[in-house]
This record gives sequence, structure tokens and C-alpha cells, in this order.
Amino acid sequence: MKAKPLLFFACLALVGLLAFTGGASQSPKKPQIQDTVKWPAKFGFGRTATAQEITAWDIDVRPDGKGLPLGQGNAAAGKAIYALKCAACHGAGGAEQPGVKLPAPVLVGDTLAKSKPKSIGNYWPYATTIFDYIRRTMPYNLPGSLTDNEVYSLTAYLLSANKIIKQETVLNAQSLPKIVMPAKRLFIIDDRKGGPEIK
Ligand code: HEC
Repeated sequence: MKAKPLLFFACLALVGLLAFTGGASQSPKKPQIQDTVKWPAKFGFGRTATAQEITAWDIDVRPDGKGLPLGQGNAAAGKAIYALKCAACHGAGGAEQPGVKLPAPVLVGDTLAKSKPKSIGNYWPYATTIFDYIRRTMPYNLPGSLTDNEVYSLTAYLLSANKIIKQETVLNAQSLPKIVMPAKRLFIIDDRKGGPEIK
């Protein structure tokens, strides 16, 4: 006889549950927002970029040198351009001055000693990246203003100031990718595929 009240409450609970879920499904539906606007064929602004404009933007240089433009430069020419357009922020000679806080990173650091700030000489794995970086971003206040010859010369100057190339080395699309940076050995190619080799 004790089972009867239990059964009664179980039935009550079931009815309550059905009422609850049934009630929820009967709640008023949200009005569907209809997209009634007919889009015009043209908005009247923007245009297709010209081949010339695309070429001007398409300036990436890859680590293997793909994308390097024609032209050339050397450290002597680069040193003069550096003094004029870079030294104000990066410091004279690119080296760290004791007691002087530069507004921009140091660009010369010819050893791999840990105490040195990370720089082209002790951290950058590819010489071609120096060219790519300077061409697209520097001088900070006027990016894109340097000619390709100026960028080759600045790259040569920074590499020679870091004792990676000789002062007289001429840099161009052929010679620049052949330079092996001291920090190359600090980097390994990430060849993981996303499978079990992931730790
Ligand atoms: C107005 C200041 C200013 C001038 C002028 C300037 N730079 Fe820079 N440069 C910077 C700043 C700031 C950074 C750091 C940018 C960042 O980390 O996002 C930088 C970063 C760099 C780097 C990368 C350094 C690194 O190790 O990360 C290079 C290379 C460089 N500049 C080269 C040049 C060259 C070459 C010139 C002259 C043509 C030049 N800069 C002129 C402010 C300047």
C-alpha cells in the first residue's frame, strides 16, 4: 500500500513536466526579420585596383630571396643614408650608447651573448628579412620612401656593421639571399603536421 502515494507523485511530476515543455514550445515566436532591401548593383564607391597599384603593394621578399627587386647597394652608401635617415631614432652607428635610451631598437649586436639585446646580428635568421622590413616600414616616420638601391645599401651597411659581410660586398637580388646569418642555427623549421607528433 505504500507504493500508491509514490506512484501518484510520479504521475504528477510527469504531467507537470509535459505541461512545462509543452508550454515552452507554445511561447510566441520571435518575428522573423525579413531582408526587404533590394541591394543596388553598385554602391557608387570603390574601384578595381590598377595593375600598377597592386605592384606597388606587392613587395614582400621571402627568406629565400624571392621577390627581391633589381638594384644594388653597398655599406659605404648605406652608412651615409643611415646617418641622414635612421640615426635620429636608432642611434649613431646603430650601436647601443651607454646611458642613452633610444626610441628604437638597437640594430647592431654582433655576438650571440645572452646579455645583448635581440638584434639583427644575434637574432635575425635571414638577411633578406632586413631588406623586406626596411623597405616596407622604415624610416618609421616615412615608410615606403626609400628607393630599392637605398634599401640594398642600408641592408649592406647594417650587415657590415654587424660584421656579417665585408664592407665592400655589393648586395643585390643574387648575393643577398646567399648570406648566412649567425642566428640561423637558433631556429628550426616547424614541420609538425598537427598529428601525434605534437607533444
Ligand atoms: C622616427 C624613428 C625611426 C626612424 C627615423 C627609423 N626607425 Fe627603424 N624603427 C623605429 C622603431 C620605433 C622600431 C621598432 C618598431 C617595432 O618594433 O614595431 C624600428 C625598427 C627597425 C628595425 C627592426 C629592428 C628589430 O630588431 O626589430 C630595423 C631593421 C629598422 N628599424 C631600420 C631602420 C632604418 C634602416 C632606418 C632608416 C632608413 C630607420 N629604421 C629609421 C623607429 C625609427
